[in-house]
Order: sequence, then C-alpha cells, then structure tokens
Amino acid sequence: MKNETIKCILSRRSVRSFSDRSISREDLGLIAEAARLAPSAKNSQLWKFTVLQSKELMNRLSSEIAVCLSRGDDYDFYSPNALLIASCDREYEYSREDCACALENAFLAAHSLGIGSVWINQLFGICGEPSIRKILDDLKIPSSHDVYGMAALGYPDAEILPVDKKTDNIEFIL
Ligand SMILES: Cc1cc2nc3c(=O)[nH]c(=O)nc-3n(C[C@H](O)[C@H](O)[C@H](O)COP(=O)(O)O)c2cc1C
Repeated sequence: MKNETIKCILSRRSVRSFSDRSISREDLGLIAEAARLAPSAKNSQLWKFTVLQSKELMNRLSSEIAVCLSRGDDYDFYSPNALLIASCDREYEYSREDCACALENAFLAAHSLGIGSVWINQLFGICGEPSIRKILDDLKIPSSHDVYGMAALGYPDAEILPVDKKTDNIEFIL
C-alpha cells in the first residue's frame, strides 16, 4: 500500500506552466517551513529562504538574469506566482547539498498542496555580478550568501505530462 507521502513523492513532476491563481500566504508559509526543516550537514542551517510574490520584483530579477546570461527578453522563470529563493553562505562546503535538500522538501510540500513547482537554476554562478547582487541586497539576501537554487511556484495550468525516468539504476543486494 502506498501511503500519502509515497504517493506525493512518486507523482511530483516539474511544472513549467502556471495559472494566475495566487498562492495563499498560509500555503507559502507551509512550503517555506518544509524547506526550513530539511536536513543540513551537521545541522548547520546556514541557509536563508526568501519568498517572493511581488510580480514587479520577480520581473526585475528575471530581466537582470536575462541580461547577464544573454537570454531573450521573454525570460521569466515560466511566470510563476511566487519564487522561493534558497541562499546559503558561499564559504560553506555543503551549501549546494543543503539547499538541494531544502528545495526538494519545498517541491514535495507544494505538490501535496496542489501547487506546481520547478527548480530554477539560473542564479547559480552569477550572484557576484554587481547588477544581480544589487537585487539580492534589495531582497535582504545576506552579502555572504549565494543563491543555490530557486523554486518557481504556482498552480499548474496545463496537464502535467509524464517524463522519461530510467528504470535500470536501482540495484538490490539483499
Ligand atoms: C540542479 C537542478 C537544476 C535544474 N534547473 C532547472 C532549470 O533551470 N529550469 C528548468 O526548467 N528545470 C530545471 N530543473 C528541473 C529538471 O529539468 C527536472 O527535475 C527533470 O527534467 C526531471 O523532471 P521531474 O522534475 O518532472 O522529475 C533542474 C533540476 C535540478 C535538480
């Protein structure tokens, strides 16, 4: 028998098309809480989670990323209703791993609430660009932090198609 948690894990898929429906403050809080309670190496918790629901600020961020990465003018993180930004101390050796655990918790929490999500990776490696850093400063992301990933969040507005998942990469030696 698959319990609800297993069903949630097995059925989560990345969502890249979102409706205009707004995510409630309560649900954003639950998703952020799921991230906050994720495992971290030695329980370091050197991360910060920034929840952004302002269209204006999301547009400002995506436009600046588009400039830095020479993406088209229409780059917009798939136009989500909100973004969860996972940042962490750039000198800490497990920032990537810790933020990945937190983001997966957030994806699963979102999915359990009927909210779609996808990892947005484009800030990784460009947080030192002055124009990007200025926006991160405005978002109160600590100056010692880089962003290791973001979750675009929103209600799905299209059917979520299955993705190809390999089946030959599990070995049981019992
Ligand atoms: C480290 C990492 C970076 C990713 N970056 C992006 C991204 O920038 N944009 C995107 O659309 N999906 C991104 N994804 C989502 C993957 O493409 C997706 O998880 C994969 O295709 C499998 O699909 P599923 O999530 O539906 O299982 C990323 C996933 C991971 C783990």
